[in-house]
Amino acid sequence: MQDRRMGAEEQELADMARRVLPAGGFGNMAVETVIHRGLGGRVWDVSGNEYVDYLLGSGPMLVGHAHPEVNAAVVEQVAQGSTFFANSEPGIRLAAEIVDAVPCAEQVRFASSGTEADAYAMRLARAFRRRSKILKFEGGYHGMSDYGLMSLWPSDAANAPIAQPDSAGIPDSVRDEMLIAPFNDLAAAQALIHAHREELAGVIIEPMQRLIPPVPGFLQGLRAITAEYGIPLIFDEVVTGFRLAYGGAQEYYGVTPDICTLGKIIGGGFPLSAVAGRAEIMAHFDRTKVGAAGFMPQIGTLSGNPVAAAAGLATLRILKRPGAYERIFANGRAVWAALERSLKEAGLPALILGEPVMFDAVFTHRASITDYRGGLDMDRDLTRRFNERARANGVFKSDGKIYISLAHDGRDLADTAAAFAAAARETAEAAALT
Ligand SMILES: Cc1ncc(COP(=O)(O)O)c(C=O)c1O
Repeated sequence: MQDRRMGAEEQELADMARRVLPAGGFGNMAVETVIHRGLGGRVWDVSGNEYVDYLLGSGPMLVGHAHPEVNAAVVEQVAQGSTFFANSEPGIRLAAEIVDAVPCAEQVRFASSGTEADAYAMRLARAFRRRSKILKFEGGYHGMSDYGLMSLWPSDAANAPIAQPDSAGIPDSVRDEMLIAPFNDLAAAQALIHAHREELAGVIIEPMQRLIPPVPGFLQGLRAITAEYGIPLIFDEVVTGFRLAYGGAQEYYGVTPDICTLGKIIGGGFPLSAVAGRAEIMAHFDRTKVGAAGFMPQIGTLSGNPVAAAAGLATLRILKRPGAYERIFANGRAVWAALERSLKEAGLPALILGEPVMFDAVFTHRASITDYRGGLDMDRDLTRRFNERARANGVFKSDGKIYISLAHDGRDLADTAAAFAAAARETAEAAALT
C-alpha cells in the first residue's frame, strides 16, 4: 500500500500548529495529521488521504461521523438557538432517556466534559459522606483534574496505596486525599477499604479499566464491601456508557454503582457529560433538600447545552434500534480477528486486550494482563511503530485503543484487514533490521 502523502496545505497547517500550539497540538492525538472531514467510519486528512477511523473522536462517534440523523437534529436545534443557560427540551429529554437506560441513574446533572463530571462525582461522594478520601485504581483514567491525575500512569509503580501525582502543578495536599488500589485484586481493595472505611468518601473505578476487563467477581466484590460500609461506588462510564451496552458497563457486567459519570456518546460529538446516580445522593445538588451545609453548587455556562443534547438524543435513538449493538459487536469481533491474525502471521509478540467494542494490541510476551502493572513492560516502541504503519496503510488509530463504530461496513473491515496485515509485516521487517 501507498504511504500517506502530505500536501502543501497540510504542511502549512502543521507548521502553523507548531508555532501557535504548545507541542504543536491540542494535547490529544499525534500532531502530524490534520483531519479535514469524517463520514461514517472514515476520516480524510487535509491532503486528501483516506482512513478507516478507529479513533472516532476518542469514542463519541459510535454511530459514525456526520450521521444524517444526528446532523439533522443538530441543524434543527441550531436554527432555534445554540445555548440558553436555562433548562431546554433536548437536555430534559436526554436526562429522562439516561434515567430510563442506566441502572443507577435516578437523576442526572449535566456538565461539558468527562473531566468535569468525574471531578463533580468525587465531590458529590464527599458531600454525601461528609468525608474526604477517595480510593481510585492504579492506571484508572478519570480525566485531568488534580484528583484524576493521581497514579494515572506512574512509571515507578511502587508507591501504592500512596498516590503519586502524574502532572506538574498539583498541590501536595491532594495526594493525601487519595488512596490507590490495584485493579482486579479484590482482596487488596477490600483490605484498603476496610482499613480506611471511616475516612473514605467514595471509590471511583473504570469498570473496564482502559483495555483491561474486570475479572469475574471483582466488581461484584467491590459493590458488596462499599454497600456494607455505606461508601458510594462511582463507575466512571465516560467511555463505557452506552457503548458496552445501552445501559453501559453496569448493564454489561451486571453491577449497579451508586453514582456514574457519562460523556462521549451522550453528546453525539458535542461537549456534554453527566453525573447520574441515586436520588438520595444527587440531592446534594439541591439546596432545598440538603440545606446550605450539604449543598454542592454546580454551574456551567454550557452544561446541558441544547445542541449537544439534541445530538446525543439522536445518537441514542439510533443505538436503541434493534440489532445496533449486535452489529457493533460483530464489527468488533471481525476487526479483533484481523488484528490478531496479522500480528500472529508477522510473528509480533502481542496480546489483544479489551471487549469487542473497544480493545487493542498490547505488545508483550505476557499471556495475560489484569492490572496496570501488567502493562508496564509492554514494548512501547513496537506499539508506536505498528500504529504509525497502520496509519500509513489507511487505518486511523491512536496508541490507546481501537473504538468500533456501528458505521463500519464490509469495505471498511476488508480495508482494515489488509492495512493491519501490511502494518504488521512492515513493523516486523523494520524490527528485524534494527
Ligand atoms: C474513563 C474516562 N474518564 C474520563 C475521561 C475524560 O473525559 P473528557 O476527555 O471528556 O474530559 C475520559 C476520556 O477519555 C475517560 O476515558
